[in-house]
Amino acid sequence: MKIIVTGGSGFIGSHVVDALLDRDYEVVIYDLEAPRYGQSCGYVRGDTRDIARMVQVLESGDIVFHLAAEANVNRFYESPVYSNDITAGATLSVLEAARRTKAARVILASTEWVYGSLPDAGDEAITEDTPCAENPDHLYTSSKIASELYCRNYLELYGVNYTVMRYGIPFGERARPETVTPIFIRRIVRDDAITIHGDGSQSRQFIYVKDLARGNVACLDQAAENQTFNINGKRRISVLQIVRTLENILGKKAVLNFTEDRKGNFKGRFISSEKAARMLRWEPEQEYEEAMRKYVAWFLKNE
Ligand SMILES: NC(=O)c1ccc[n+]([C@@H]2O[C@H](COP(=O)([O-])OP(=O)(O)OC[C@H]3O[C@@H](n4cnc5c(N)ncnc54)[C@H](O)[C@@H]3O)[C@@H](O)[C@H]2O)c1
Repeated sequence: MKIIVTGGSGFIGSHVVDALLDRDYEVVIYDLEAPRYGQSCGYVRGDTRDIARMVQVLESGDIVFHLAAEANVNRFYESPVYSNDITAGATLSVLEAARRTKAARVILASTEWVYGSLPDAGDEAITEDTPCAENPDHLYTSSKIASELYCRNYLELYGVNYTVMRYGIPFGERARPETVTPIFIRRIVRDDAITIHGDGSQSRQFIYVKDLARGNVACLDQAAENQTFNINGKRRISVLQIVRTLENILGKKAVLNFTEDRKGNFKGRFISSEKAARMLRWEPEQEYEEAMRKYVAWFLKNE
C-alpha cells in the first residue's frame, strides 16, 4: 500500500509528506509543481483533473490524501471557473480514479469555512454535526462543500471510502507569504504599520502546520473511514494577541493603526476537535507562542 499526496508540493501537503515519511510510509507526491523541500519520495507531475494519469499512478489498496486545490480565496474570486475546476471538479476526478483502481480511501482536505459565518452563541461550540452554511458567502466555500458532498456520493453510489478533514487556519514554516502571520512579521521587522479593524479582539483558531500534518496522519486510522473531523487549534487567538506574541518574540514594538471595524467582521464560534481527540487520539501538541517562535526563526532565516 502506498500513499499518494495530491498537492504534496504545497504548504500543508509538504508537511503531510514529511509526517508520513517520518512514519516510514511509501509516499508519492502528485502535483503540477515539483517538490521544493528535498523529500526523498516518489513524485509524479500530474493534474488532478486528469483521470487517466491518476489511474496510472493509483493501485488497488492505495490511499489518497487529496490536498491539491485553489487554496487562495482571492485567486478563487479572480478566476472562479478555473479555481472550481481544480477544487470541486478535480475532487470528482480523484474520486473517479479511486473508484476505477479500487483505492482504499480518499482523504479530503476541507476547511472550517464550510460552517460559514455563524454568530457567537455563547459557549456552544461548532461540531461536525453542525450543518454546513446554507448560503455560503464565498465560491471557495461552495466548492469545498461540493467536494465533501462528492465524497459522500461516491461512498453511497460506488463504495469508495472517504475521510473529510476540516482544517482550521494553519500557520508555520513554508506558509504562503500573503497570509496574515508572515505579513505581520514583515511589517514589525520593517517598522511598517499594521492596520487593525476595530479593537483587535476579533479572533480565529490557528493551528500550527506540523500539528495539522499529524492530524492528517491520524486520519489513516481505520476509525476515520467514512467520517468527518474538525482538525483545529485548541484556543482562539485575537488579532491583538498575534501582534503581542510577535512583539515578544521579535523583541520589538509594532506600529499599530486602528481603524473602523469592518462591516460584519466575523467574531466567530469555537470549533471543537473533540471528535478527533476521542476517535483518533489526536490533539494539537504545540502551544501557540512556542510554535510561533519556531516559525519566526524559520521565517527570518528563509525570507
Ligand atoms: N492554507 C490554508 O489556510 C487552508 C485552510 C483550510 C484548508 N486548506 C486546504 O488545504 C489544502 C492545501 O492548501 P495549501 O495551503 O497547502 O495550498 P498550496 O497552494 O500551498 O498547495 C496546493 C498545491 O496543489 C497543487 N495543485 C493545484 N492545482 C493542481 C492540479 N490541478 N493538479 C495537481 N496539483 C495541483 C499546487 O501546485 C500546490 O503545490 C487545500 O485543499 C486547501 O483548500 C488550506
